[in-house]
Amino acid sequence: GLDISKLLSTTGMITLDSGFMNTGSTTSAVTYIDGDAGILRYRGYPIEQLAEKSSFLEVSYLLIHGELPTTTQLEEFTSRISRHTLLHEDLKRFFDGFPRDAHPMPVLSSAVSALSTFYQDSLDPFNQDQVELSTVRLLAKLPTIAAYAYKKSVGQPYLYPDNSLSLVENFLRMSFGFPAEPYELNPTLVKALDQLLILHADHEQNCSTSTVRLVGSSNANLFASVSAGINALFGPLHGGANQAVLEMLEKIDREGLDIKTFVSRVKNKEPGVRLMGFGHRVYKNYDPRAALVKKTADQVLTDLGVNDRLLDLAKQLEEIALSDDYFIERKLYPNVDFYTGLIYKAMGFPTRMFTVLFAIGRLPGWIAQWREMINDPTTKIGRPRQVYTGYTERDYVDPSQR
Ligand code: ACO
Repeated sequence: GLDISKLLSTTGMITLDSGFMNTGSTTSAVTYIDGDAGILRYRGYPIEQLAEKSSFLEVSYLLIHGELPTTTQLEEFTSRISRHTLLHEDLKRFFDGFPRDAHPMPVLSSAVSALSTFYQDSLDPFNQDQVELSTVRLLAKLPTIAAYAYKKSVGQPYLYPDNSLSLVENFLRMSFGFPAEPYELNPTLVKALDQLLILHADHEQNCSTSTVRLVGSSNANLFASVSAGINALFGPLHGGANQAVLEMLEKIDREGLDIKTFVSRVKNKEPGVRLMGFGHRVYKNYDPRAALVKKTADQVLTDLGVNDRLLDLAKQLEEIALSDDYFIERKLYPNVDFYTGLIYKAMGFPTRMFTVLFAIGRLPGWIAQWREMINDPTTKIGRPRQVYTGYTERDYVDPSQR
């Protein structure tokens, strides 16, 4: 056993809070969550209203600048972003170097990291114009990078962005279109994807956002900080959960597992068996985003005429879990990832692209939080302490004596 009091007497008074269960890392005016009541607001606006009435770029502006834009401000912002969607041809060649079966997430973080080599004129975190320029560049280029990562993985030619299209339209065309061939956009999918991006746009001090802030607290540039955030998002307990949910549903379906048996394996805590897409560090009630996504999943699949057994399976799993004491006692509800994968799949995205879509959505939140951190005069470099549990002093032993 650890003698905590002895350890503290040698390290001084330190708060030990593994996983930061109860430790605030910052003050923030960006996003409000009430996990018990299932409330989420960006800059004070309820997520339900934004998801219904706003657009992804308008929400991006809101998160980053703190207020909803006027019509002119939104037009300027949108047109500025559409003029930065191209990737430098040298950066485009990066994609050729990755193995064809590379997961698109590390491809995405590598390309974003490389942006700081191509755009050395926008790296100063304390120059407002440069920060604005790197903000626009990131918002404009991430969908292009994501589409190229996808094209690379399926061995198809890259498409240049078409700046007459909206961000989401452009992204869908670059992902699923072919050069010199017309691409027909499906308005249902455009609307659904735009809404999903809004729902992912920020979520206060989650793992990837905290990473972006921590890296940025050393005054690392925005590209470097966001690249680190993308790597944090890759993990299956965070953004990677949307991929894990679909893999779980596919496994249950493929192996013909009985749902009740699967749920009991989860409850028995068999190693590696969790109900993916369930549970959240902050929400101890239905995740308000999950409620919206569930509705969208129904709409999109009906509109496309897709009859996906996995959607029925997901609904059955949810029903069983929500009436089971194990889940009730632990306040485990579906989180945003539980139904998103089914929509992405219906849109034609392979499972490996799901977390990439999450990254495109979360980008404005990362940027807004990084800018809030950089502009806050009380920010200090993030440098947690520890409670040392290793050896006390001992003498070096000669190799022949070990
Ligand atoms: N399935 C089964 N049991 C679970 C699940 C789950 N999905 N989530 C939590 N539990 C249980 C734990 O075993 C634990 O039980 P115990 O008290 O008997 O030991 C209890 O609920 C509390 O869980 P913790 O892991 O301590 O909760 P924590 O806040 O650390 O973890 C997390 C939150 C990581 C989201 C967790 O619920 C999880 O692993 N869920 C599945 C992965 C997932 O969906 N992640 C997406 C999160 S949302 C996002 O990133 C957008």
